[in-house]
Amino acid sequence: MLELGVCYYPEQWDRDLWREDAQRMVALGLDWVRIAEFSWVKVEPKYGVFDWGWLDDVIDILGSAGLKVMMSTPTAAPPKWLIDAHPDTLAVGESGTVRKFGARRHYCFSSETYRHHAARIAREFASRYGDNPHVHAWQIDNEYGDHDTIRSYSEGARLAFRHWLAETYDTVDALNEVWGNTFWSMSYGSFNEIDLPNNLVEEPNPSHAMDFARFSSDQVRAFNQIQVDILHQLSPGRPVSHNFMANSFDYDHYPVASDLDFACWDSYPMGALVDGPQSDEEKQQFLRTGSPDYQSFYSDFYRHLGNGKVWITEQQPGPVNWANFNQAPADGMVRLWTWMAYAHGVDAVFYFRWRQAPFAQEQFHSALLLSDGTPDQAYHEVAQIARERALLPVGQKRKQAKVALVLDYPSRWAHDILPQGQTRFAPKIAFDWYQSLAERGVDVDVVGPASDLTGYALVLIPDLMIENAALAQRLMDVGAKVVLGARVGSKTLPLKTPDKLAPGAFADLIAMRVLRVESLPPSHKETIAFGDQTFETTGWRESIETSEPVLATFCGNYRSGWPAIVGNDKCRYIGCLLDGGLLHEFLANCAGWADVDIAEPDPFSRITRRGKIEFTFNFKTSEVAATPTSDTWDQVAERIRL
Ligand code: GAL
Repeated sequence: MLELGVCYYPEQWDRDLWREDAQRMVALGLDWVRIAEFSWVKVEPKYGVFDWGWLDDVIDILGSAGLKVMMSTPTAAPPKWLIDAHPDTLAVGESGTVRKFGARRHYCFSSETYRHHAARIAREFASRYGDNPHVHAWQIDNEYGDHDTIRSYSEGARLAFRHWLAETYDTVDALNEVWGNTFWSMSYGSFNEIDLPNNLVEEPNPSHAMDFARFSSDQVRAFNQIQVDILHQLSPGRPVSHNFMANSFDYDHYPVASDLDFACWDSYPMGALVDGPQSDEEKQQFLRTGSPDYQSFYSDFYRHLGNGKVWITEQQPGPVNWANFNQAPADGMVRLWTWMAYAHGVDAVFYFRWRQAPFAQEQFHSALLLSDGTPDQAYHEVAQIARERALLPVGQKRKQAKVALVLDYPSRWAHDILPQGQTRFAPKIAFDWYQSLAERGVDVDVVGPASDLTGYALVLIPDLMIENAALAQRLMDVGAKVVLGARVGSKTLPLKTPDKLAPGAFADLIAMRVLRVESLPPSHKETIAFGDQTFETTGWRESIETSEPVLATFCGNYRSGWPAIVGNDKCRYIGCLLDGGLLHEFLANCAGWADVDIAEPDPFSRITRRGKIEFTFNFKTSEVAATPTSDTWDQVAERIRL
């Protein structure tokens, strides 16, 4: 089933509108309404003084109209009185500047005072509404990490980091050893001497930076867990989630998601394209649609994080206000994104937001209604979706794909900490691989390094820089063919070189060593011979020593004839970045190698399946006729042409 919902901010509107709004939501076909994630000061205008009446009324009005309420805890926006009473709750930026009150997300995950107050307000909300019959689900906080808010350089963070290090290493000598602190005379005499890795003369020791990234990530999990426990205790039977963001890799989402009951994510395809790493040409091609793979990639990814259950808690409804450019989507895109999310396993889509705000930071952000209440484009598209979903056959579930792509957060931090020049790998590289197969109609599951890989024909590991012996062993144990990208397994978790050199533990899958790596400026092209064709690549090149068959070779004027891609019957390794032509050619070849069917590539259309329904999505801004590719195309799909 596809359920529909909306984000609603009753506190921003005259109470005379609430009843009419609720009725209009129901008439539109909405099932859910998400409220209250920024409501703290309205509920608790002064410390310990509560004004619940208005929120009681809101919930009653919405629920009585027939809507299910997704309630939120309001901890993403602590009130001014709290900040003034407890300045230690504020986050501190990398430069050492305090991030002040006046927007939102101004708290430090490591502040014990803030944790106390976050738990306190969450308990108040959960006690009051935990068993309210209209409250059916909970969201904790709002978008951890938005606006670079995971790593805080506060005094609280400094003390907590020392504690984390002491717990992790036990003795400071052990830490000195693991970090390699004899280098540049960096050894410490006690944990209390260790500072946060900001404002240094040169870059920090990578081990120090990595531990700070891991510590900061653990702080998010601990912060979230406090509220999970409170909600589970006081609101039993109501699933608890958090709205994750796309393209957010500053903390490890896997442990946080494993503490939640399901995953939610917020979808903003247009801003993601404009602010993203795509080429200018691609940005122009998809200016009014967003990347054809944004919606699917993150729905697949968060479906995995939600253990099969995923919602979109915020769907872009039209132009937004926060990207470098805020173009309008083509008419019809909100409908397309919604159906694409459903096709990729999403069970509920909430639109952000009900009515456009005429004041404050997001005045230019569109909504289902204009600020005067007139239906905007997305409203009409949602009405159409609400009619169309009645045609869906029940019980359609997404099946396990034949291809899995593995994503790992510490590896993303490793790329940032040890970039080795300006060549940008993650997150573009994983997205490019996914996209190349999606263009050929191949479904790809996005999974984690600890996931069960049984049943996959092909496992893609594009950018997993941290060697992982357990993953290497699991790959050996399953039947899947494996593709490893450049830099995979090239560092240990503390960011040191593996004893056997790269690809570390993955050398159990393929007999090779990386002897040298180099980053290359975009103006320089390397030529690679693959099959009977040659391709150009740039950005990265590795010098590989191997006894395995060589599948592609460098053939320019430096180390001509050296391997670019090597592979045996189980595993292939790529010693460069795969650009355009070579990416498509090589991954198509890998699909054939693993017996995965592929179609002719089409950059503008996407075919995917949920249960017996096959969907075709058109990313041209003009109409095209859809051609069924199999007998799963049934009457329903005939009638829902996207
Ligand atoms: C999200 C956020 C919302 C709203 C929205 C605007 O990141 O969760 O509260 O600000 O962006 O696009």
